[in-house]
Amino acid sequence: MGLVTGLEILAAARAGGYGVGAFNTNDLEITQAIIEAAEEARSPVMLALSEGALKFGGPALVEICKYLGGGAKVPVAIHLDHGSSFASCMRAIRLGFTSVMIDMSHADEATNVAETKRVVEAAHAVGVTVEAEIGRLGGIEEHVNVSAEDATLTNPVEAERFMSESGADYLAVAIGTSHGAFKGKGRPFIDHARLRAIAAVLPQPLVMHGASGVPTALVERFRAAGGVMGDAIGIHEDDVRQAVTEGIAKINTDTDLRLALTTRVREVLASKLEEFDPRKILGPARDEMKRVVAERMHVFGSAGKA
Ligand code: G3H
Ligand code: 13P
Ligand code: ZN
Repeated sequence: MGLVTGLEILAAARAGGYGVGAFNTNDLEITQAIIEAAEEARSPVMLALSEGALKFGGPALVEICKYLGGGAKVPVAIHLDHGSSFASCMRAIRLGFTSVMIDMSHADEATNVAETKRVVEAAHAVGVTVEAEIGRLGGIEEHVNVSAEDATLTNPVEAERFMSESGADYLAVAIGTSHGAFKGKGRPFIDHARLRAIAAVLPQPLVMHGASGVPTALVERFRAAGGVMGDAIGIHEDDVRQAVTEGIAKINTDTDLRLALTTRVREVLASKLEEFDPRKILGPARDEMKRVVAERMHVFGSAGKA
């Protein structure tokens, strides 16, 4: 199957009523975990690389993604997560990404439209598809620290206007989720009515950022192995399932993989004090991430769709 555009994967997902995971990767083991899980679950998947991931892994990380994604038995897209500028998106496209996000959600609507449109025109000219965002998520965005109170949920009327003016292929919406492991004081409120109103006017695939479940069992294991973590809470599985029925086609997950990797490394180091072979430390961490990815693919409904 190999590499395809984000739109190819996401249009099928929206039409088929299932969600596809965009899992963030930063290294070889995370990428292997995502691709192996996708192949075993027979699921399409998106490999998401942030600008921070590109800085950390450099072009070599992109080559790993192209090699593993391109050789996979399932459709894979390589996606730039939260591209902060036209230049950043163009760099990703030159490196071989098949999908880019231009995130101008912090700017005013006119600037967001203009910059998104510029990226869309250049990306489409070379067969790459584009995600944009309107509204502002709570939690930590790359550019600004937005408290839950300052988050601006996506307005359906603005979203429709934005998509018709910008020409973007899929849209990230703010409906109550936020990035990271601390998404609320209790179960975060997801504005399903708002999502349904947006989906009613937009046939394009919709994107849920900040979708990690932050599983309690993993948080407890992280703590038991010596990690320190406050009142971590994620998005309930039922909210994700419902959001998929309401138009969400792309579901971003980073925190759950960070938690899985770090928890397993802590456990191995704590239980095998003499171990210093990296393969015996990172191997189990890779298995743990693979388990988490596969579990989410079943929740999203993408398992068995490739
Ligand atoms: O939404 C952001 C992703 O979790 C990527 O985070 O910029 O620290 O790589 P990062
Ligand atoms: P989480 O922090 O919930 O994993 O969200 C990741 C994300 O939205 C990446 O763009
Ligand atoms: Zn995000």
